[in-house]
Amino acid sequence: MVRYSKLAFRQTVHEYGTDLCWTPMILAKEFNRNHFARDSDFTVSTKGPQPPTIVQFGANSPLEIARASSLVAPYCSGVDLNCGCPQSWACAETLGAALMEQRELVRGMVIETRDYLRRDGWGVGKEQDIGNPKGRSISVKIRVHKDLRKTTDFITTVLGPEQDRHIDFLAIHPRTRSTPSSTPIDIESLEILTSTFGTKVPILVSGDVFTLNALPFTSPLLPTLTTTTTTTTTDDDDSPDQAQAITNLPHLAGLMSARAILANPAIYAGFDACPWEAVDTFLNKAARCPLPFKLLLHHLSEMCAPGMGPNKTALLGRKQRSDMMQCANMLDLIDFLDEKRSGQGGLRRDER
Ligand SMILES: Cc1cc2nc3c(=O)[nH]c(=O)nc-3n(C[C@H](O)[C@H](O)[C@H](O)COP(=O)(O)O)c2cc1C
Repeated sequence: MVRYSKLAFRQTVHEYGTDLCWTPMILAKEFNRNHFARDSDFTVSTKGPQPPTIVQFGANSPLEIARASSLVAPYCSGVDLNCGCPQSWACAETLGAALMEQRELVRGMVIETRDYLRRDGWGVGKEQDIGNPKGRSISVKIRVHKDLRKTTDFITTVLGPEQDRHIDFLAIHPRTRSTPSSTPIDIESLEILTSTFGTKVPILVSGDVFTLNALPFTSPLLPTLTTTTTTTTTDDDDSPDQAQAITNLPHLAGLMSARAILANPAIYAGFDACPWEAVDTFLNKAARCPLPFKLLLHHLSEMCAPGMGPNKTALLGRKQRSDMMQCANMLDLIDFLDEKRSGQGGLRRDER
């Protein structure tokens, strides 16, 4: 997520069961040319294994994305092309969602990236290279078109031949470029696309994954998932309503969360609201892999607010969150949080 999914956050969500963590979208052209862009956009830990990380690029040139992928390949699990960003500046540069009108170009970019990584010695054999330490994935994240036939054509072109498809997996955000994120995802389109393509390529859904016990669809992927209810302060309600879980998606391969995981990094560990211990984990990670302090505060204000799912309890009330934003430094912040949670009887993990 642009601005947010930096290393400390990726490490936190991984500790709470997220299998694959995405970086924010990185502009491939700038990344290739400017070492300041490289340093600020992509940080890896020098200690221990990385959380499995997909580096997402914004690109419109096969050579640019292939070169940028070659630079990051030693430090990640795979690379992804963003064909979903609806922002006007991105679309004006034929980046993000504008690429949904450029299926041949997208295919050219994934083919060039695969060839480039193969020449560099990486394992790009998809399923054959899952267990290979040099295995790297190449994927695409898309939105849908108003006319779903265009999306079908797009996917068919980008996938290529069934026996040797061009991408490892596909993430689908079933909203069009102009659908507001307050409108529920288009389950019917998702159903058609997963039943058409889900046996040919693993498909992840992005959109309205708010909590594991109230998804707007069912899937064989899900029965093993259980949810823990977190209770603290009841607060305001500012998320869209969840639809009933009615449609079954037999060919779904994974879930991708953005707004909900920002509010609750423990979502995939089955928590239906952010627990205090996730705040601790994030602060510990941020102490080792620092973030700009204002960004840290933004993360905490998301985590301490009511989440996106039906459980609207919050770690802090609205006034308390606003007071937290006035903290001037890390010491103030830690004191502030200790005081608030001891008032609620919440103990830090190291105090249990
Ligand atoms: C703060 C924020 C930043 C985002 N940044 C990216 C990004 O860098 N790349 C991307 O493909 N999608 C990005 N998205 C879109 C999400 O990946 C996702 O498709 C969309 O928010 C719908 O999912 P949700 O209902 O889980 O939020 C971002 C969303 C948010 C809220």
